[in-house]
Amino acid sequence: MHSFSSLLAYGLAAGATLAAASPIEARASCTFTTAAAAKSGKTGCTTIVLDNIEVPAGTTLDLTGLKSGTKVIFEGTTTFGYEEWAGPLISMSGTDITVTGASGHLINCDGARWWDGKGENGKKKPKFFYAHKLDSSSITGLSIKNTPLMAFSIEANDITLTDITINNADGDSQGGHNTDAFDVGNSVGVNIINPTVHNQDDCLAINSGENIWFTGGTCVGGHGLSIGSVGGRSDNIVKNVTIEHSTVSDSENGVRIKTIAGDTGSVSEVTFSNIQLSTISDYGVVIQQDYEDGKPTGKPTNGIAITDIKLDGVTGSVDSKATEIYLLCGSGSCTDWTWDDVKITGGKKSTACKNYPSVASC
Ligand SMILES: *[C@@H]1O[C@H](CO)[C@@H](O)[C@H](O)[C@H]1NC(C)=O
Repeated sequence: MHSFSSLLAYGLAAGATLAAASPIEARASCTFTTAAAAKSGKTGCTTIVLDNIEVPAGTTLDLTGLKSGTKVIFEGTTTFGYEEWAGPLISMSGTDITVTGASGHLINCDGARWWDGKGENGKKKPKFFYAHKLDSSSITGLSIKNTPLMAFSIEANDITLTDITINNADGDSQGGHNTDAFDVGNSVGVNIINPTVHNQDDCLAINSGENIWFTGGTCVGGHGLSIGSVGGRSDNIVKNVTIEHSTVSDSENGVRIKTIAGDTGSVSEVTFSNIQLSTISDYGVVIQQDYEDGKPTGKPTNGIAITDIKLDGVTGSVDSKATEIYLLCGSGSCTDWTWDDVKITGGKKSTACKNYPSVASC
């Protein structure tokens, strides 16, 4: 234990301890036991250990503005007080930041306190984690339980999330809703590797961005692997996305691209490869250009072209009441698709498909 005066010398508040600090080295390895101490001391640390932090209700575990090269380690159990507010519960920004979890750690949001089956429309719920301007950085091995609402909001360049577990399984019976796992927007270079997700909304949702890679995903309980809805934001371009080697089960959809009717933008260079589906309740594969106010209208428009799309090895079964494949494009706005080994069985054929490239089948 260091003396109180040495803590003051490093500008650290109560709830922090220092290790390996040398008089000449300005930044230290710090262990914090409160969110307030982490917030006030964060820029003085090369390594930040978050030790069993109980984040007070209505506050963010604020790790924004970290010094370049900082390492952040979640240790023990991280918990959050209850308040109806928008969050986020955790926010991080900086360059060259390395985030990991110590063995046995858990970030337990205890979302059941907020869940009311209404997601964004019910009582106010905090989003979980803003990775906004968390650039050239990595988040590895975090274990997360029961987010109140969406989990990761990613707006960053060159970020890699590996081996993330988001276990919102309790939400299936306790009213979890809009618990998207990974929402990506305004980003160039996002890699999501080997995520394990059980939730009640999109496993992946890409609203805009380029050079996005999602691989080795296990997606259970949600709405599947989605691009969109694209349209109506400041950035409406999705380009160069690869989603591969993943399974989607007990979900509403398998793979999906949706664009907003009447808007402009583009979706291009998207590959879905080696995706296994099972127990899908709505659509195995769905590509549609008719969204408005969060709902399909059945009236597609052609302002957001969906071009250079490859489905290669999208296979598996859907429920008997589900539709195997649904493709609803505006006039001339779905072009240059490749369609190899797309085999969805067990459900109904759609009679409402429109304007899709002849290589595809519906
Ligand atoms: C496409 O994105 C991948 C990452 O998924 C990246 O490695 C590749 O360089 C990108 N291609 C182009 C042409 O930018």
